[in-house]
Amino acid sequence: MLKTKTIFDVESIRKDFPILQRKVHGKPLVYFDNAATSQKPKQVIDALDFYYKNYNANVHRSIHQLGEEATAAYEQARQKIADFINADSHQNIIFTKNSTEGLNLLAYSLTADLEKGDEIVISQLEHHSNFVPWQQMAKHLGLKLKFIEIDDEVKLDEESIRKNITKKTKIVSINHISNAIGTINPVEEITKIAHENGALMIIDGSQAAPHMPLDMKKINSDFYVFTGHKMLGPTGVGVLYGKKELLENMRPFLYGGEMINEVKFEDTKFNQLPWKFEAGTPNISEGIGLGVAVDYLTKVGMENIFNRDKELLDYAMEKMKEIEGITIYGPKERASIISFNVHGVHAHDVSQILDSEGVAIRAGHHCCMPLMSVLGIVATARASFYLYNTEQEIDTFINAIHKVKKMFGV
Ligand SMILES: Cc1ncc(COP(=O)(O)O)c(C=O)c1O
Repeated sequence: MLKTKTIFDVESIRKDFPILQRKVHGKPLVYFDNAATSQKPKQVIDALDFYYKNYNANVHRSIHQLGEEATAAYEQARQKIADFINADSHQNIIFTKNSTEGLNLLAYSLTADLEKGDEIVISQLEHHSNFVPWQQMAKHLGLKLKFIEIDDEVKLDEESIRKNITKKTKIVSINHISNAIGTINPVEEITKIAHENGALMIIDGSQAAPHMPLDMKKINSDFYVFTGHKMLGPTGVGVLYGKKELLENMRPFLYGGEMINEVKFEDTKFNQLPWKFEAGTPNISEGIGLGVAVDYLTKVGMENIFNRDKELLDYAMEKMKEIEGITIYGPKERASIISFNVHGVHAHDVSQILDSEGVAIRAGHHCCMPLMSVLGIVATARASFYLYNTEQEIDTFINAIHKVKKMFGV
């Protein structure tokens, strides 16, 4: 076994995740589908339970004890998230349903002021959630959508970045970490290039927020989007970070209750930030749960989580390199995501056989069909790690790959 310098006690962390005790097909669960969604610690599960049993009420409306407690907890969660990413204030933090909603909000609101022929730049490496909204807005409004190309290592090609972002570019929207491959993109540099050209910079941080420390002041993008369920939080809650002066000038995405200040028959005055973008009753328990998830991550330490991910990645890569007949996609320096194919076996079959051994991975196009077409494949198998995974689990995964090869005679 490789020598590791694990920074926290993985075994005690595992005890916080009840689901890790269960078996699948009679085998202990090995959960390597963290890029799709993470498991939840009991602290988060208990926070949801406690909310519904003790202070369930609507927020920002009811002047009674329960309403005040619910509002305070929900707004505290927002402040925790602002601190977690080093944002200026709670006003920069809009609660959304997930990353997809955040990106749609931006695609809808920011294109309102664009003119026919204006350019938007994304990349070949985007998740459909940071692809289809721009593609469809471009189609409806006559905008031009351009794509930064990938190089042979499945990194964003530097020349293509400089070639595509020009004075005609109005919006650049790029992921921080690719969910399909694990590539970590140079978002600070791209932000600088976007700003030099007068464009707005959006970062899809769905895979980065759970795995690395984030500092909005340092990255300096105009917007940053992430989703709660991949970072130990509940489903149904995500975050859109935005610079205040930009959010103030943008038109709302959804209209209705909560996002208003005053409504007359003729017109409406919108609420102040961040509520201007939060129409209707929000996902209250989920927002509070995400705050607890952020507490948990902060206590373990994001730097520690990033380093532990790397230990697991290095351990798995070392073992996988020893297996013949496997293609691993992507660069050496990457996040804790391994996208691969076993020669002669469809990724779905790989996933099914691994599942019979209790190992949960993802197989498919990972919501990145355009990327798959550039790579000339239809699918990959993807193992993705998180803070509760262990080297022993990686050994189980490696043995299961050997079983795949044996069963298919490859
Ligand atoms: C890079 C990336 N962007 C966007 C999303 C969409 O996240 P959600 O489904 O929570 O909206 C995902 C989820 O897989 C992702 O990995």
